[in-house]
Amino acid sequence: MKQDVIVILDLGSTENTVLARAIRDLGVYSEIHPHDIKAEELKAIKNVKGVILNGGENRVVDGAAVEVLPELYDCGFPMISIDHPTSKCAKQYASIPAEEELKKFVFDECGALANWNMKNFIEDQVQLIREQVGDRKVLLALSGGVDSSVVAALLIKAIGKQLVCVHVNHGLMRKNESESVIEVFQNQLNANLIYVDAVERFLGKLEGVADPEEKRKIIGSEFIRVFEEEARKLEGIDFLGQGTIYPDIIESGTKTAKMVKSHHNVGGLPEDLQFELVEPLKQLFKDEVRACGVELGLPASMVYRQPFPGPGLGVRCLGAITRDRLEAVRESDAILREEFEKAGLDKKVWQYFTVVPDFKSVGMKNHARTFQYMVIIRAINTIDAMTATIECVDWSILQKITDRILAEVDNVNRVCYDMSPKPPATIEFE
Ligand code: XMP
Repeated sequence: MKQDVIVILDLGSTENTVLARAIRDLGVYSEIHPHDIKAEELKAIKNVKGVILNGGENRVVDGAAVEVLPELYDCGFPMISIDHPTSKCAKQYASIPAEEELKKFVFDECGALANWNMKNFIEDQVQLIREQVGDRKVLLALSGGVDSSVVAALLIKAIGKQLVCVHVNHGLMRKNESESVIEVFQNQLNANLIYVDAVERFLGKLEGVADPEEKRKIIGSEFIRVFEEEARKLEGIDFLGQGTIYPDIIESGTKTAKMVKSHHNVGGLPEDLQFELVEPLKQLFKDEVRACGVELGLPASMVYRQPFPGPGLGVRCLGAITRDRLEAVRESDAILREEFEKAGLDKKVWQYFTVVPDFKSVGMKNHARTFQYMVIIRAINTIDAMTATIECVDWSILQKITDRILAEVDNVNRVCYDMSPKPPATIEFE
């Protein structure tokens, strides 16, 4: 193994990730584990150089004290214990004396080397994946999003054709998105890729369904069903690859942290289709996942993709989805992305997209009355998607985009710009 590891044991601190990041910023890899880890499990982690017991205020969770197993103290690893009032903690690690203290522990007491970088991470993960999987097979749902693309590239590097990727085109993808998954993974990386054209199936199920939650439910459950059908056709698969990343684990709750929301990456398949999971990115933060993708040679357009909702364009074609409005969303979105890229806004703006409401308005073309759809442009900036502000896009850029949408997209006679921050609006419309 290439990388030294500092293990953080979570004794109810809300600042585990801040601490992990602070150690990684020193160039040393750090992993967070539950407080009740057994000595043998701790010893099984390769290259552990030291352990930090990271507690919350008096190490209390839900009124009960949390402690590590006494046997951990006999493992022979250098250990320090940090107990801190949670509110001050972020500041504590940003301050110089704390950094000095951390450095002293990590480098002087543990003797760890600053060898945390993506090249070493990839080499280590390749070795771990090969040890876990052996000569068996892994199945992966490859949406083309950042996480699933990076995990696919990593698994291809580790086990090549023992990975079977399934890409489900549900008809709600952006323009050329499925094509680029095929181009990159099948043509360039020579992956074992099964392409499932489920467009008619999804659009059929969604016909006439106007309620946003109902649409989401149908898209989610239909996706699981299609994937399950493909999994049942294949034989001799023991593992399921997942692009789980560190924030997914946090949001789904740890032993000492309460669940924020159940994440779409965790669970879903029926009981009788039980696979062992392969989750090589599960300790990475999003920016590290992107750096890993770059190191693996994935195209920038895939690695630096803006967030895209799981239900895809389905929640931007408002109300009951119709094919003409879905095409209007897809085409206008492609124009918006092209023009933002030309203007350099793709690197500046956090998320931008178009929406088509389910009503028509009166307009005119060639001196005749039209009754057509409206495209709404939305461009926002945010840090964590909990609140957002709008991007003040230059008027001339908006005018150019409007002209192109009106000229190139069928059934559209009006373009608007959404000025609303979140709150009171949300980022998406549904
Ligand atoms: P809202 O609309 O809640 O969106 O302000 C916050 C962020 O989450 C994305 N989003 C989703 N992502 N599945 C996802 O994976 C979903 O169903 C979903 N809905 C919204 C949205 O694009 C924004 O970045």
